[in-house]
This record gives sequence, structure tokens and C-alpha cells, in this order.
Amino acid sequence: MSASSSVTAVAGTNIALVKYWGKRDVGLNLPATGSLSLTLDRLGTRTTVAFDDGERDRMILDGKPAGAAETARVSAFLDRVRARAELARRALVTSENSVPTAAGLASSASGFAALALAATRAAGLELSSSELSALARVGSGSAARSIFGGFVEMARGERPDGADAIARPLPEGDGWDVRLVVAITASGPKAMGSTAAMTHTARTSPYHEAWIASVPGDIAAARAALAARDLAALGAVAERSALRMHAAAMAADPAIIYWNPATLAAIAAVRALRAAGTLAFFTIDAGPHVKVLCRAADADAVAIALRAAPGVSDCVIAAPGPGARVVENP
Ligand code: DP6
Repeated sequence: MSASSSVTAVAGTNIALVKYWGKRDVGLNLPATGSLSLTLDRLGTRTTVAFDDGERDRMILDGKPAGAAETARVSAFLDRVRARAELARRALVTSENSVPTAAGLASSASGFAALALAATRAAGLELSSSELSALARVGSGSAARSIFGGFVEMARGERPDGADAIARPLPEGDGWDVRLVVAITASGPKAMGSTAAMTHTARTSPYHEAWIASVPGDIAAARAALAARDLAALGAVAERSALRMHAAAMAADPAIIYWNPATLAAIAAVRALRAAGTLAFFTIDAGPHVKVLCRAADADAVAIALRAAPGVSDCVIAAPGPGARVVENP
């Protein structure tokens, strides 16, 4: 198959409201549970893939050559695409993350979703969204969800080959005018990456099994809240899912603690907003930043309250965004 053209794709990051934290297969990145997320219109990745006659794969990330580990992860991912397309050529991958400077929010979710789409198209393949989701998942579990826009559910799947461990859009959430306000907390020492942290939690945390057992009920509750457009119910699920995930990680040995004092200050600000009548609910990923789910009409007030929390350096207001797509004019 000929594959000389260069293709650019963009993808938004996604924030899980019911978290993925644990794998049933590490090699294929098969999740131990499902998850449920919202794809954002901001904080995404734009990636161009061009297959050429280079001796090895090369990657430019945010204007600079990527490190060896990052390039190796991308090259291993491209090997899957090459095998599928029966292509031997190496590639130049150029990727830009649209995140505020030094925020530490760069996301493997939007990164591998954009890479899956750009690389398959540049290799001459036309995969379905489900096939793209399964492919993106091998790069990073959360990337399977960024193939789709809006509210998305990721299935745990049962098959050993992972063909059913894919995401699907939840159209019942379409057009719901919510926002995620991302509070950027002053960055501390670099925490453990999610892949290593999940494995460590599963191996050493006495709470891991209880965490895994709690997820299917949270997914059912989140789906029902979405169908009813009940923000208070969806927010309650999101908070408990994040807190249980972090509790499992904190109980690992040695402990994994992603929070800093500003994380707690932002949590307190959200609880104060709620006590004063604003529907605002937090979630936290494998880092110290706090993401707050609220109505569009309340987003500015939520951002003002979060900016006033000690240690919060900035806020980004994100809306629901589209799934991964090819852009014609890079
Ligand atoms: C806390 O998808 O980054 O953000 O599959 O190992 O690449 P790998 O992990 P990743 O983990 C995401 C963890 C999370 C929760 C979530 O997004 O569901």
C-alpha cells in the first residue's frame, strides 16, 4: 500500500468522571473496569505523521526532539500500524499539545487518539471509530475515549484480544451545556506516571479490590444521571469515583500521593461553592490539578472561586468537544 502523504489529526483530551485505574492485561492495556468521561474542546493534541525513508522513527514534541522513552513508546505504537498496513517505512511524528505553559497537563489521552488517527490515515488505512478506539487504547487506556466527542463510555470488554475493550459515545449527553473548569495547582515534584502507579496500586494496595468492585455501580449511576441530565447526581458519582481511586493509590505501599496543598484548597473551594448553592463537583487525575464539573452559566464564578484558592495558579474553562478528526490544512 502506498503511504507517502502526511496526515494531521487533532484530538481533545478527556476527563474521566468514573475513573479507569487498573488493567486486566498490561501488554494490550485492557482495563480492569469500564470508565466514563467527557471529551474537551481544549487541552488537546495536534499530530502530523509522515512516513518517509528515514532509518528510524523520529518525533518532535512541542517544537523539540522527544526523549528516547517517549519516542520508543510512539515507535512501538507505529509498529502496530505498520503491521496492519503491511508497511515498512519509518515516520516523522510532529506533535503539539495545547496546554498552558508548564501546567503539566499534557495528556496521553489526546496524544494517542490523534496519533492513532493520523498514523493509520498516513499509512493508507481507513479504520472504523471502534477499531481506532481499540488501537488508541494500546497506546494509552484513556486515549480510547478521546476518539469520540462529548460524553463517552469505555467498556472493560471480555475478549483476550481487546477487540471489545473500546469506547462508544453516549448521545444522551449531547448538547448538555456543562463545563469543566481546570484549576492548575502549583506543580510539585514529578509524581509517578499512571501506568506504573496503577500496577503498583494493584500489587500493594489492600483497597484495590474494593475499588475495582465499586466501579460498575458508579458507571450505572453515571449513565442514569446523564439520561436524566441530573448534574448533582453525576457530580456526586464523579467525586466519589475520584476519591476512591486516590484512596486506593494512597493506601499502596509505598504510598502514591498526587495531591498538594493547593489540591486540597481547591477541593475546599468547591465544597464551599456547593454549600452556597452552586452545583460544582471536583475530580482529580494522576496529578495535583483539580477539574470541576459545573453548569456553563456558573463556570466564570467557579473559576473566580478556584483562582482565589491558595496555590491555584490559573484556571482553564473547557466545554464538551468533538472526537478525534483529520484536519485538512495543517
Ligand atoms: C487517572 O490512560 O494515562 O487519568 O493506560 O497506562 O496509559 P495508561 O494510563 P492512562 O490513565 C488514566 C488514569 C486517570 C483516570 C482516567 O483517565 O480514567
